[in-house]
Amino acid sequence: MKSVNYLLFIWIIGIILSDACEAKAQSSINQPVSDRFKPGETWPDSNGNHIQAHGGGIIKIKKSYFWYGEQRGNGLDPKYRYVSCYSSKDLLNWKFRGNVVKMLPPDSLSSNWVLERPKVFYNAATKKYVMYSHVDDRNYKVAQVGIATCDTPDGTFKFVRRFRPLGHESRDIGQFIDDDGTAYLVFEDRPFGFRIARLSDDYMDVEKEMTLVKAHMEGGAIVHYNGLYYSIGSALTGWNANPNKYSTAPSLEGPWSDFKDIAPVKTNTYGSQSTMLIKVVGSKKSTVIFMGDIWKPKTQYDSRYIWMPLEIGDGKLWLPEPRPWKLNIKTGEATILF
Ligand code: GAL
Repeated sequence: MKSVNYLLFIWIIGIILSDACEAKAQSSINQPVSDRFKPGETWPDSNGNHIQAHGGGIIKIKKSYFWYGEQRGNGLDPKYRYVSCYSSKDLLNWKFRGNVVKMLPPDSLSSNWVLERPKVFYNAATKKYVMYSHVDDRNYKVAQVGIATCDTPDGTFKFVRRFRPLGHESRDIGQFIDDDGTAYLVFEDRPFGFRIARLSDDYMDVEKEMTLVKAHMEGGAIVHYNGLYYSIGSALTGWNANPNKYSTAPSLEGPWSDFKDIAPVKTNTYGSQSTMLIKVVGSKKSTVIFMGDIWKPKTQYDSRYIWMPLEIGDGKLWLPEPRPWKLNIKTGEATILF
């Protein structure tokens, strides 16, 4: 009798444990990791690992967002440069889809070459995902963009070529897709300022310059909001944060207004550097999110992000002090929590 009770006991414990395991597995699959953005904190993906998508770019394909960025996680082979890909339906909970670039240096670049700020565009006509990135040598003297393509968002991207867009130096790049779907590259041209240029129909080239903004800025990002274009950029201070600024123009060709601060100067953009502006168009509202990187040059894997909904409109733009906030991806409403 004693042994029957014992077996019954083991059986019941077994059921409880397996239910608990299943519930845990389900929760990691179905339940959001978080219900709020926590700017500046570590940002776990669906596996619980801090998201490695620095200097990134985001595209929306149907209802999914894909975030590509510099993969700077620990344990990578230093011979290669990696670009990560994550996907999400709500811009908050991200699933790691893999490293879509694992590249040796393209011809004639030394082993300490860099591949930074990857931005992917999806070309509906060719059905190709086209990745632009800043490709350079260790001294940042090459100043080119590299193009790599793939047939799927999270497959292995194949390197195609590298070049200077329209013959100009190009370091930090940004991506901008206008409301009509036209794709543009923003690139920093050190001797002159930064340029905004339209991509060719197949996105495999940088075809037409829209404007040269004669301001020495990088981390360039653009959004089209209520009939006005807003561009944001940072000063050229390497990994160190600085006061980022914005300018507006009625069209991409300009004229671009003088640059103004986006946050109190003494905060140095709360320790971050601009990388992209995302417009979430919901059923009730459009919210523009500032995406910035908090770089940690000595512990790159721990570099963080500041994403915050911007106060924007009528030619004004302001980055509120980072705090936890929520986004309703359907209505587009953002709520900053106190
Ligand atoms: C920053 C730039 C980064 C990276 C870094 C290297 O100015 O925005 O993408 O190139 O310099 O020092």
